[in-house]
Amino acid sequence: MNHRKYVFMTTASAEVSLSILVTVMLSQFSLSFSAFFKTEINCSALCRCQDSALENTMKQYASKHFYTMGGKYRAELNYFDAKSEYMMFLGTLAPMLHRIVVITCELSDGLSHSIMSLLNGVDSQMDTSLEVRCRGGESLTWDVPSWHTSFNIFTSENCTVVSSESAKSIIIPVNMWIVDIETGGPNLVELIDIRYTINTVTLSVKGSNTQSTPKHWIDMYLVSTSVISLQDNNIENFDCPMQLTKRLDTLNLDGNRLTQVPECVLNPNRIRMNYLSLGRNNITELIVLYEIPDHHILPDIRIINLSFNKIRSIETLRELGNLTVLDLSHNSVREISGDAFVHLRNLQVLLLNHNKIYSLGTGIFGKNLKLRQLNLSNNLLVSFTPDKLPRVSFPFTLDISRNNLSYPPFNDCLATVQGSFNLYVYSADNVFLCDCNMLDFENCYRKSPKSMANNTNTVVFVDLYRMKCSGPPDFKGANLSQLHFNEKCVIIEQCQSPCTCLLHNVKKVVVNCSSKRLMEMPDNIPVFPNVTTVLHIDHNPLQILNHRPYLRNLTELYVDNCLLTSITPSAMEALQDIRIMTLHGNLLKKLPPSTRNITLSHATNVTLHNNRWTCSCNSLWLPVWISKHKASLWMPGNIVCSYLQKPVEDLSEMDLNCNPSSYVDTFISFCLFMLTLVVTISMAVYHRSELILFVYCKLGFRLGYRFSYGDLFNPYDAFVSYSQQNYRWVVDTLVPKLENGPKKYRLCLHYRDFPPGESVIDNLPWAIRLSRCAVLVLSKDFLQREWCITEVRTTFQRLLLVANRLIIIAAENINIDELSPDLRAYMNTHEFLRVDDPYFMEKLEMFLPPKDCNKEPICSSASPRPSAGDSFFQTTPDRFEETRISDVSELSVRHAEVTEHDI
Ligand SMILES: *[C@@H]1O[C@H](CO)[C@@H](O)[C@H](O)[C@H]1NC(C)=O
Ligand SMILES: *[C@@H]1O[C@H](CO)[C@@H](O)[C@H](O)[C@H]1NC(C)=O
Ligand SMILES: *[C@@H]1O[C@H](CO)[C@@H](O)[C@H](O)[C@H]1NC(C)=O
Ligand SMILES: *[C@@H]1O[C@H](CO)[C@@H](O)[C@H](O)[C@H]1NC(C)=O
Ligand SMILES: *[C@@H]1O[C@H](CO)[C@@H](O)[C@H](O)[C@H]1NC(C)=O
Ligand SMILES: *[C@@H]1O[C@H](CO)[C@@H](O)[C@H](O)[C@H]1NC(C)=O
Ligand SMILES: *[C@@H]1O[C@H](CO)[C@@H](O)[C@H](O)[C@H]1NC(C)=O
Ligand SMILES: *[C@@H]1O[C@H](CO)[C@@H](O)[C@H](O)[C@H]1NC(C)=O
Repeated sequence: MNHRKYVFMTTASAEVSLSILVTVMLSQFSLSFSAFFKTEINCSALCRCQDSALENTMKQYASKHFYTMGGKYRAELNYFDAKSEYMMFLGTLAPMLHRIVVITCELSDGLSHSIMSLLNGVDSQMDTSLEVRCRGGESLTWDVPSWHTSFNIFTSENCTVVSSESAKSIIIPVNMWIVDIETGGPNLVELIDIRYTINTVTLSVKGSNTQSTPKHWIDMYLVSTSVISLQDNNIENFDCPMQLTKRLDTLNLDGNRLTQVPECVLNPNRIRMNYLSLGRNNITELIVLYEIPDHHILPDIRIINLSFNKIRSIETLRELGNLTVLDLSHNSVREISGDAFVHLRNLQVLLLNHNKIYSLGTGIFGKNLKLRQLNLSNNLLVSFTPDKLPRVSFPFTLDISRNNLSYPPFNDCLATVQGSFNLYVYSADNVFLCDCNMLDFENCYRKSPKSMANNTNTVVFVDLYRMKCSGPPDFKGANLSQLHFNEKCVIIEQCQSPCTCLLHNVKKVVVNCSSKRLMEMPDNIPVFPNVTTVLHIDHNPLQILNHRPYLRNLTELYVDNCLLTSITPSAMEALQDIRIMTLHGNLLKKLPPSTRNITLSHATNVTLHNNRWTCSCNSLWLPVWISKHKASLWMPGNIVCSYLQKPVEDLSEMDLNCNPSSYVDTFISFCLFMLTLVVTISMAVYHRSELILFVYCKLGFRLGYRFSYGDLFNPYDAFVSYSQQNYRWVVDTLVPKLENGPKKYRLCLHYRDFPPGESVIDNLPWAIRLSRCAVLVLSKDFLQREWCITEVRTTFQRLLLVANRLIIIAAENINIDELSPDLRAYMNTHEFLRVDDPYFMEKLEMFLPPKDCNKEPICSSASPRPSAGDSFFQTTPDRFEETRISDVSELSVRHAEVTEHDI
């Protein structure tokens, strides 16, 4: 018999609802307490029955529904969970209702069972919880009478729940507190009848296919309900059909097919709640969250979960004064309006991780003064600055890991920021560039926490030991915290490739361009105030030391062992405050005359030896200048005139015959010379090459030789250029004859002397510059292919035609009139060789740079440099130098490597 009274209530007050619940429970308690000990539990054979403390059972449900009720967000706020509905429920009831019979059934027989048979006559006066799990597609027939008041909790997993024949629906009995059906069959939601549901706190139907809530739910009152979960159905629109008399705690619609935030959920006249979960839907727009509706009651929702949707942009969100947690993670957000969050005054946790955000407006979170946790990890941000955050003094956690940041945010410990910050930053897994810009960061994190203790600005890099460098290449993968930027760091800005720039002890910048095949001075190098700058540009095929703005800021300049032939006056002038300057091992003939006025007042070590100093009448100031700077010159006695072999400092007018009387002598000898020349030329114009050859062969010297060969210091005698067609002839005939012949010429051949894998065209300029002359094996094939490549042609024109250093070998009969004008002009004015000429080799040797070992001891030595000290190519770890010395026998092997045009 049922002795209990139920009062139906319709007012929307949680307190009243609760008091009714209490009334109901109280009456039940008085009866069941007496009944409990009298009755044996009569358990179904399929189930286990035990009586247990109600408090424990409810706690189990609280933890089972932790995620459904947004527990993870509440845990982050930690004051919130005290208010969870289960706790409230328990708080009032637990002292009064001690026991509950818990029936647990595990079905795996594949049969159909009736609910009442599982309850199996457990005393209808005892509070009962039935938990059913089906393993083999069992079904449960709902034959529970709607008046059954002691059936309080029903949960089922994976059981097909069907109505009984007669009822045609599943009527939730009047005193059922928790209904939790997971995977209960495809149309379960349709079957569920909520008309008598007064005391249901939780209504959860998951994984049951339905597109919308059933029509018969419309205007049904859910008097005590706090948690409604309709997860993993196929709901496409939700319009809050049932009437709620109290504020919901949770409305969970995760895993459905909503494309919009349902309009009704933000209408407090219809529904009010703490936690709205719309995760794993198909929401693309947040229109409902932007629009300000007609009614003036503001929603008091506290947590909104919109994670795992397809939101692409966020505009200005409407006022949601009580919203504390907003989860927008795992969407496709790219754009966020600068004032998107300004109206969310009480927002404490904002999750924007796993989106595609690459930039954020200034002050975007500045108005969210309660914000204490911001997750921006797994986005595409390239920078993050303090101006974006509100100034707050309570601990603020910022997660900005896994973005594209080059430098950690707040890397200067907020030294520049006014107001207080108390930040905990997570920033690992970004693309940190470990260059000198990390100095601030190092200074920041190396500050001991003690010294920061009374500082209002505190930044803690929580995952410092996981922060790694992505660049520069030498530091890739290095642990940021193990690098000592204050001792040494790489400068990238202003540091021109291929140079490397290092800052040592924040005092000295060293720019290293040594041995980089530079042909020009770098345009820019990094210079900083109060930091000394050292430039190493030695061992490069550099010909001119030009003026550059940074020269004035240099403290040390190393430009030795290059191919310098001149220094411009402005460069010299800019270098007057230099301390160390090495110019030895170059081809300098003179210094600009303005040097004589330069005092080099700061110099300690300037080197000038191993150059080509010409000692002429108009450089007589040089000995004076050298004696004056003796103290700062390195080995002044070794600075010698190239012809006189006399130290420049000892040079006097006497050595040069500079007095005016000698002009007469000079004039007479000049006239005689001219006369001889005219006679010789008129003879020589006829059969000139035969004549020259005759003289060369018989007398061993050359007549009328007008090539201006590159310098002896060049490592190669000739660069040979040919087309594919002539490859075999060059490799089999020309190269062995020249390289293995008595003169042992050193040839530069692209297939073996060029760095492998690099374009031939890119390497042409240096090859030509490092060779004393160039030999062009001219064939129709060459003219048709290589000569048409603009780069090739301009290189030849600029470097050879002008400099008169090109020897042309005609490999076949070439009609000069068909040549391009530039080549025709050159061949008309210059001798060229024919392969079929009987004296071909002899003539060729004549055209090649002289290799007289008596006068030029250089060619007999193994090293191409005669100079003492470091030699250009010995210290150059270049591939081409290694291969240059290599055996001719390797030729056939290397042939296979020819990939580019055969130049
Ligand atoms: C649910 O039932 C199906 C058969 O209907 C079975 O294959 C599956 O393993 C069950 N899942 C669980 C979690 O029991
Ligand atoms: C999500 O919406 C798009 C169109 O907006 C549709 O093509 C897609 O099938 C939907 N996905 C689901 C899971 O409903
Ligand atoms: C937010 O909640 C407080 C109580 O916690 C309430 O007084 C206030 O009116 C609410 N604000 C809004 C905008 O709903
Ligand atoms: C920090 O506070 C202590 C005592 O409160 C004080 O003695 C000390 O000078 C302060 N240090 C700084 C750097 O302000
Ligand atoms: C470099 O030198 C120039 C000229 O002396 C000077 O004006 C400039 O300030 C210097 N730059 C630095 C960074 O010291
Ligand atoms: C450079 O040093 C001078 C003197 O030591 C100092 O007055 C000046 O402020 C320094 N400049 C910078 C930019 O540090
Ligand atoms: C050197 O300075 C003097 C005056 O100090 C000037 O007359 C002369 O022209 C200068 N010489 C050069 C080459 O600049
Ligand atoms: C000066 O420079 C040369 C070349 O770099 C070096 O060999 C020599 O030791 C230096 N002399 C002094 C006193 O530093």
